[in-house]
Amino acid sequence: MKIVLAPLAEFTDAPFRRLCGEFGADCTYTEMVSAAALFHGHHPTRHLMETMPGEVPVACQLFGANEDEIAYSAREATNLSNGDGPRFCELNLNAGCPMPRIMRSGAGAKLVTNPELVYRLLKAMVDNTNLPVTLKTRLGPRHGENVVCELADAAERAGAKGLIVHARYTSQMHGGPLDLEALANLVGRTRLPVIGNGSIKTVADAAEMAATGVSAIMVGRSALRDPAIFARLKGQDPDSSAPSQALSPYETAVRHLGYIIEFRQMLASKFPEDHILDEDMFVALKARTHLFRYFSGVPGAAALRKRFNAVRTRAELMDVLATTAG
Ligand SMILES: Cc1cc2nc3c(=O)[nH]c(=O)nc-3n(C[C@H](O)[C@H](O)[C@H](O)COP(=O)(O)O)c2cc1C
Repeated sequence: MKIVLAPLAEFTDAPFRRLCGEFGADCTYTEMVSAAALFHGHHPTRHLMETMPGEVPVACQLFGANEDEIAYSAREATNLSNGDGPRFCELNLNAGCPMPRIMRSGAGAKLVTNPELVYRLLKAMVDNTNLPVTLKTRLGPRHGENVVCELADAAERAGAKGLIVHARYTSQMHGGPLDLEALANLVGRTRLPVIGNGSIKTVADAAEMAATGVSAIMVGRSALRDPAIFARLKGQDPDSSAPSQALSPYETAVRHLGYIIEFRQMLASKFPEDHILDEDMFVALKARTHLFRYFSGVPGAAALRKRFNAVRTRAELMDVLATTAG
């Protein structure tokens, strides 16, 4: 079964996606990209749509609530190339983000209760791309109000090719029990392939999710601590070609750091007009958001996190990492 990396704002940038791909993720998603920002020419938003060599197929996720903005953004994402073909393998609409800032704009999980607008937004995407279009959503606004089958119908009518369903309700944000029964019910009712998502940490979690009949599984937060989760989950699959040997936390952090530096150089040379943080600041920022997590659970992790947070330069980061090498 395919295992894919979820879109995670602030996290699923090109270096992290590349790392997850190397650990067996079959496909990854960009961070959510604001259709309004693209439409109004906010240039830094385009950095979120950058990919780097060595990545597995990447889908671009858009969020918005305005058909013109979404149509424009679908065209823009479709026209991006890697030199040897389209940059993205799929365009996805976010109809599940519960953050107040996003919902206030009418986007994200606000769309859960508006299948008609979901239809129009997806149709605007389908009409403006030749890439497959998918919907990422939730089961409904709250327990007892399961509307995902209506959303699936809207997606199918609009010409979408698949669904990704976080098996929770908007009111749960990112915690609380999954409703796998509701997910199984959806899978039994819709003709669209469904990717199941929500708190997959172990092979047993994945098996339980797979038992609903989903066609693939999406992993988000677990990959932040442990990008090798893709290899572990796929280790159960005899056809898997994923690497079976996980790297040590030190090796993972060093490899990730190499990709971070490479990506910053790419951004700086591709967008000379834009403000790109200098290498030391860029590295320090990413060390704080990403690298310390690879040491969660090792002895002294809390103290190590403080040291990662205090890093100001690439050289300082290398010093901190060197202490973890043994
Ligand atoms: C920090 C964070 C950022 C997220 N960003 C996005 C996003 O940009 N787009 C989206 O559709 N979902 C986003 N999500 C939701 C995840 O894609 C996923 O649906 C959710 O975390 C449940 O999966 P998990 O338990 O495997 O993490 C985000 C979740 C978190 C915790």
